[in-house]
Amino acid sequence: MLPNVLLPSATDHVPVLAEEVRQALAVQPGETVVDATFGAGGHAALLAADLDGRGRFVAIDRDPTVRPFFDGFARRHGGLQTRFLRGDFATVLGQLARNGARADAVLLDLGVSSMQIDRPERGFSYAVDAPLDMRMDPTADVSARELVNDADEQELASVFRRYGEERFARQIARAIVRRRGERSFERTGELVDTIKAAIPAPARFGDGHPAKRVFQALRIAVNDELGALESALPSALELLRPGGRLAVISFHSCFGREGGWR
Ligand SMILES: C[S@@+](CC[C@H](N)C(=O)[O-])C[C@H]1O[C@@H](n2cnc3c(N)ncnc32)[C@H](O)[C@@H]1O
Repeated sequence: MLPNVLLPSATDHVPVLAEEVRQALAVQPGETVVDATFGAGGHAALLAADLDGRGRFVAIDRDPTVRPFFDGFARRHGGLQTRFLRGDFATVLGQLARNGARADAVLLDLGVSSMQIDRPERGFSYAVDAPLDMRMDPTADVSARELVNDADEQELASVFRRYGEERFARQIARAIVRRRGERSFERTGELVDTIKAAIPAPARFGDGHPAKRVFQALRIAVNDELGALESALPSALELLRPGGRLAVISFHSCFGREGGWR
C-alpha cells in the first residue's frame, strides 16, 4: 500500500522505484539523510515521511531551478533540520565527507528529471525544437551546442556509441561534421533533422524516435554523468556511518520512456 505522500493529490511527481528506495534505505526517525539528486523532491518526500519529523535532511542538486521545490519541501517538513547544497554531487559529497559530516542514508537517483525534460528551453528533448543546451547546471562551460559544433568526427561517433549504443554512430557523426561545415548547429530541431537524414530509411521506424540514442549520449557527455558517479561513490561510502545505507538508481541504458529520458 502506497503511503499518502505517493498519491497524486499529495504530489504531482511520483518517483521511480519508490517502495524499493524506502525499503533499501530503511530510514528511521532521528537519522541523517542525504538526497544527492533532489530534483522535484519526490523521493525526498518519502524519506522525510520516514524521518517522522525528527532528524536531518541534506538535499543536493546541480540544477538551481530545483530550489523552489526544496523551499516547499523545507516548509512542509519544518520539524527537520534541512539544508540545500547546490552543486555537483561528485564535489559536494566529497566536501561533506572531508568536513566530517556523517549520514545514515544516501540516495543517488541518476540522470535527468522529468521536470528538466519538460522544459523545452533546456534542450534535453528531441520532441521539441529548442536551443541545443542539455546542461543540468546552466552555468557549466560546455553545452550540447559546443560539443556538437566542436568535437571531431571520431569523438562524436565514440560518444554516440559509448553513451547511446547508437548503431549508426559513424554515419551520424559524419553527417553532423558535414552539416556544420556550412552552418553551425544552434537548435535541437536541426540536429534531429540531420540524424534522421543520416540513418537508413528502414531504421528510422520501429525502434522509437531515431534521435533518442544520440540525445541520451550527448546529455551524458555534456553533464559528465559517468565521471560524476565514479567520483561520487567513494565519497558517498565515506560519508556513511557504520550501518549506513546507500541506494543508487540508474536507468541509463533503458529507452522505455518516450521523450528520451532515462
Ligand atoms: C532523476 S532526477 C531526481 C529526481 C528525484 N529523485 C525526485 O524524486 O524528484 C535527477 C536529478 O539529479 C540532478 N543531478 C544529476 N546529476 C547530478 C550531479 N552530478 N550532481 C548534482 N545533481 C545532479 C539533476 O539535476 C536532477 O534534478
